[in-house]
Amino acid sequence: MTPKVKFDPNDNDILVSRERRQLIDPSRLISLLPIMSHHWVADIGCGPGYFSIPLAKYLFDGKLFALDVQKEMLDATQKALKAARLTNTELILSKETKIPIEDEVLDGAITSFVLQEASRPSVLLKEAKRCLKKSGWLIILEWHKREMDEGPPLSQRISEDELRKMTDKLGFRFRALRNLNSSQYMMLVRK
Ligand SMILES: C[S@@+](CC[C@H](N)C(=O)[O-])C[C@H]1O[C@@H](n2cnc3c(N)ncnc32)[C@H](O)[C@@H]1O
Repeated sequence: MTPKVKFDPNDNDILVSRERRQLIDPSRLISLLPIMSHHWVADIGCGPGYFSIPLAKYLFDGKLFALDVQKEMLDATQKALKAARLTNTELILSKETKIPIEDEVLDGAITSFVLQEASRPSVLLKEAKRCLKKSGWLIILEWHKREMDEGPPLSQRISEDELRKMTDKLGFRFRALRNLNSSQYMMLVRK
């Protein structure tokens, strides 16, 4: 099996571009979540903070944990948080198959285009489940599994069916599946 490639922090401009905002508007995404302003939420694989910043703004009496396995990504998120004068976020250097957060402290979590890069997606999901409180929500964003000019190689992509099987096997309760645009989908599950 070819090892999966992590998103290169030198290409972070793509992740925070205006074009991306047209494909996925983070405020619209937040409006689809069962999130409340006092929730404790983790952005697992936060990258340069495309979702962390709007989430931290939303969680005005809650807390955000922004995690990534690449330190450069946390630095970029830190910079964006500072520019937005947000102070309710804890940045955590995560491990490939271990999320350094205690059991059952999170109300919700997001993994956005992370499972496609994770060496063991199912283990990462299991870790996310461990950190969630009972009935905590998890939203997963991924690319459709078909050949396209943009996005990760086909071999790294996870189809909706594969993801559903994975989350069912881990005991998550399925709540919703919808297309974000013609290339990307989101799945909402609960612990
Ligand atoms: C394609 S980027 C997406 C970043 C962000 N979630 C977004 O949608 O803009 C994927 C991110 O996941 C991180 N990542 C990959 N594997 C991870 C893992 N096992 N645990 C935490 N983060 C991971 C990468 O370092 C990278 O920053």
